[in-house]
Amino acid sequence: MLEHKSIRKFTDKIPTDKVVRTIVRAGQQAPFASQYYSILLSRKRKRNPFNAPLLFTICIDSYKFERIMAERNWRLVTNDLTLLFFGIQDAAYMAENMVVAGRSLGLGSCFLGSAMFRAEKIAEEYGVPKRVFPLVQLAMGYPAEDPPPRPRYPIEFALFEDKYPELDEKTVSKAMKQMDEGYLAQEYYRKANAKIPLEGSRKETFTYDNYSWTEHICRKWGQWYLEPKELLDQLEKRGFQIKAKKPK
Ligand SMILES: Cc1cc2nc3c(=O)[nH]c(=O)nc-3n(C[C@H](O)[C@H](O)[C@H](O)COP(=O)(O)O)c2cc1C
Repeated sequence: MLEHKSIRKFTDKIPTDKVVRTIVRAGQQAPFASQYYSILLSRKRKRNPFNAPLLFTICIDSYKFERIMAERNWRLVTNDLTLLFFGIQDAAYMAENMVVAGRSLGLGSCFLGSAMFRAEKIAEEYGVPKRVFPLVQLAMGYPAEDPPPRPRYPIEFALFEDKYPELDEKTVSKAMKQMDEGYLAQEYYRKANAKIPLEGSRKETFTYDNYSWTEHICRKWGQWYLEPKELLDQLEKRGFQIKAKKPK
């Protein structure tokens, strides 16, 4: 797990059914609140991102759960926001188990975060019923690349024992430095040619000699003017409502 790296290039080797089922079973064995997920699989390699032999789409699935409730003559009344919070956790712990299990069997993988914005489209493609929300995708196969593990914050910037500390400038700078120097040493953004252009009046002063993770992530979250509505629309199309339900 300490050597984890996302893999975005895959060999032609096709994982066997046994391997696929073992990985999914390991995913299923993750801790759960309600097993509030389903996993869609596509082996259409030519159409999959990174031409991955396997593409898993991990969905939050209330439909299946409500079928069980109906069998027992119950109706779901909990609000959808709470269900989604639990559902995201169930799906995420399951998905990461798949990543780890895959790696233990020699496979690499990479998550794709765009699914939630294309939820309705993906749902149509797979014939997914309402109350199922495609959350994230996981491309998987045998690695055709071996990048170095990517940097992380120093543990002192992640683990706070007993009390959340006052984060002084030195601590913040140290964390930024570790990330930035780590990515620069790997020439990550230069190789990926992934500098996010500046909008508005800010002048570009960065080159690939100093453009690194903290600048990248600031440009991403400081310029991506996403309205909550864009996700809420996707959720609503899938039959989820983030508002109070009137009692019937
Ligand atoms: C929710 C989520 C969405 C992600 N989306 C993408 C993506 O769309 N494209 C991509 O290349 N990597 C994606 N990744 C992978 C991250 O870029 C990667 O995990 C991160 O840069 C750290 O690198 P590492 O996994 O190699 O340690 C995503 C990861 C997560 C957890």
